[in-house]
Amino acid sequence: MADVCTTGERLFKELDEYIESVGAKPDKLISILQKAQELFGYLSPEVQQHIADTLKIPASQVYGVVTFYNFFSTKPKGKIQIKVCLGTACYVKGADRILERFLEELQVKPEEPTKDGLFSVHPVRCLGACSMAPVILVGEKDFYGRLKPDMVPRIIAKYREGVK
Ligand code: FES
Repeated sequence: MADVCTTGERLFKELDEYIESVGAKPDKLISILQKAQELFGYLSPEVQQHIADTLKIPASQVYGVVTFYNFFSTKPKGKIQIKVCLGTACYVKGADRILERFLEELQVKPEEPTKDGLFSVHPVRCLGACSMAPVILVGEKDFYGRLKPDMVPRIIAKYREGVK
């Protein structure tokens, strides 16, 4: 008989295997949350509860850690995250119009994933590349600088093509 296993079940299984490998102890909570976020993309109440149950700690303790560190997210994000810098150097060079154009082209609000789950747009503070203002960061390492709003559709198209 075929092994029926949904994506969610598979991810929970993978998370459990990870917890087992590091030890189901409260002092491993941060690395377990990091692994969970890597697997699921964000930390839903269901995932947080599962971790709390597995580590035998209150869900409020897990929630406290998740909300304390800003690298943890409780909302789904796009597969490709577009960070638009709104730091001072970028802002004076029109970063707000870049942000607006991304939101308009993708038909989303900030931090919200597109319907196909491919993109989400995140306003951020200085990306450390002020001399190239205005700057965006796509994914983990693709920086684009000296942007103009008209360049936005081409950038989106490039990543759409890349996932076909
Ligand atoms: S202010 Fe945008 S990169 Fe520094």
